[in-house]
Amino acid sequence: MCGIVGYAGKRRAAPLLYAGLKRLEYRGYDSAGIATLAEKIEVKKCTGPVANLRAAVDLKGTCGIGHTRWATHGAPTAANAHPHVYGRFAVVHNGIIENDRALRKMCEARGESFSSETDSEVIAHLLERLYRGDLLEALKRVASVLEGSYALAVLCADEPGKIALAREKSPLVLGRGKLGNFLASDVPALVGACLEICPLRDGEFALITESEVTMSEGERFISPDWLPLERGRGESGKAGHAHYMEKEICEIPAALCRSRETASGAVFSRVREELCAAKNIRLVACGTAYHASLAAKYAFEKLARVPAEVTVASEFRYQDPILSENSAVIAVSQSGETADTLAAAKLAKERGAKVIAVVNEARSSLSALADETLPINAGREVCVAATKSYVAQLSVLYTLAASVAEAQGRRGYGDLLSELPSLARETVKAGRAVGGWAPHFAAARSAYFIGRGADAVTALEGSLKLKEVSYLPSEGYPAGELKHGTLALIEEGTPVVAVLTSQELAEKTMNAVHETRARGAKVFLVTSIPAYAGEKGLTGCVVIPPCTEVYSPALAAIPLQLLAYYVALARGCDPDKPRNLAKSVTVE
Ligand code: G6P
Repeated sequence: MCGIVGYAGKRRAAPLLYAGLKRLEYRGYDSAGIATLAEKIEVKKCTGPVANLRAAVDLKGTCGIGHTRWATHGAPTAANAHPHVYGRFAVVHNGIIENDRALRKMCEARGESFSSETDSEVIAHLLERLYRGDLLEALKRVASVLEGSYALAVLCADEPGKIALAREKSPLVLGRGKLGNFLASDVPALVGACLEICPLRDGEFALITESEVTMSEGERFISPDWLPLERGRGESGKAGHAHYMEKEICEIPAALCRSRETASGAVFSRVREELCAAKNIRLVACGTAYHASLAAKYAFEKLARVPAEVTVASEFRYQDPILSENSAVIAVSQSGETADTLAAAKLAKERGAKVIAVVNEARSSLSALADETLPINAGREVCVAATKSYVAQLSVLYTLAASVAEAQGRRGYGDLLSELPSLARETVKAGRAVGGWAPHFAAARSAYFIGRGADAVTALEGSLKLKEVSYLPSEGYPAGELKHGTLALIEEGTPVVAVLTSQELAEKTMNAVHETRARGAKVFLVTSIPAYAGEKGLTGCVVIPPCTEVYSPALAAIPLQLLAYYVALARGCDPDKPRNLAKSVTVE
């Protein structure tokens, strides 16, 4: 969600904090702020993107904290932007303080007035109240009365050169480099500045200065477990593309190649054994990763004939899921930081299930929690809307399904996956033609995506992508279900995208196409069956290369990602930073 950075060292803090916030902007971009501490605390805040904070680089001091916000409590105004300052303290917070109302009332009853509507400001008030000359001790006292989730970084005017930190259910990472010590909510902010990192765990505190990092859990001091920060973890800019979204779609073939490395390790073999032995397989995820999980269910059931159940992670906990030590729970998440997916994985562990994380960020909270981690190796994804990570998630999940199938004597499905990178390359090329469809969508009031079997999953993902980046209301539907309600919404000119990659279900999908055409829809077809390209009455058609039907979502999603991209441009939207959304949703 929000992004946090901090620095204590020899250099001026503000320019380093600004650069870190720029790298974290994908976590939220409605407002930002920096506080530094020289003789006193100085703060600069802005609304809108981090670039609006450029003037803050002039702030003095070699110690400071910064924040880029995704609003939860209170509108995205400068007053609500972090850092929040009260008395001697400046605070940046990521997460949600659930007992904020009660705490705020208590402070107000003491005559304290608040300058923002946020839940976070109360932390600065409590610090001022509970400070007895030791910043870290004050933070521990405050943390003991907070309910909810937090990653916190705090400055105290009485203790120059120090930053105190606390983590509970919201990611926070320490970093050390040649210039001093750093902190961030996410590793990308530290790339280039740090040589080593150390993620904090829930319940841990830390204090950083120019020369020292101390960590503790309660009263117990712990020594930081420093891990090397690999070079190359940063992204290399847009590489000549107009937007990250376009660049990342073009990177799908390479991401697919790298995702295949996961299948060769010892971890993969262990996971396969776990899945073969499991009595039930459950997949939990959010957003696009949820759609990847739906496609994986289809693969586990079709190829391996193993039942697999998929649940939106935010619902999992509240369904009181039936799990045991014979259950395998696959938690799928690009970031590995999504609060709902983490909570679902935690519950699964508590109930004895084996938890397997399928993540793009291998050093994430989810992998720290899971029994096993399978990295998808898609490379850093900057655009908020997931594209290459979706296809790489599919690749790893399909490889798993194929290997479970193989263990049961259903051979050959794994080999078919080796063709995906080159087929994806052809698909990106062919998919560009959807650029010509964009004007039909740009002027529409809504759009619909239909398909059957695995194509129904592609329809869901195509629709999600379109609404995320172009703000055009849209629905994805199993084609056969359309006539049970959604058909009522089709009128003259409504764009309908039909996905058709299954020969077996082709005629059935085409029936739905005819039904929408008869009501005036403009139909756009994405198909791997060239015979249907000549169908009468289509407004547009893209033919993608054929592949095994079960794996087709990995290819068919590509033209739909491109369609979302072109429609976003046609509607004047920034596809990389859709309004109201964030790449990493670390609140429930
Ligand atoms: C956010 C992003 C989506 C993403 C979802 C799950 O909503 O905007 O693109 O699919 O979170 O994220 P995860 O990192 O768990 O895959």
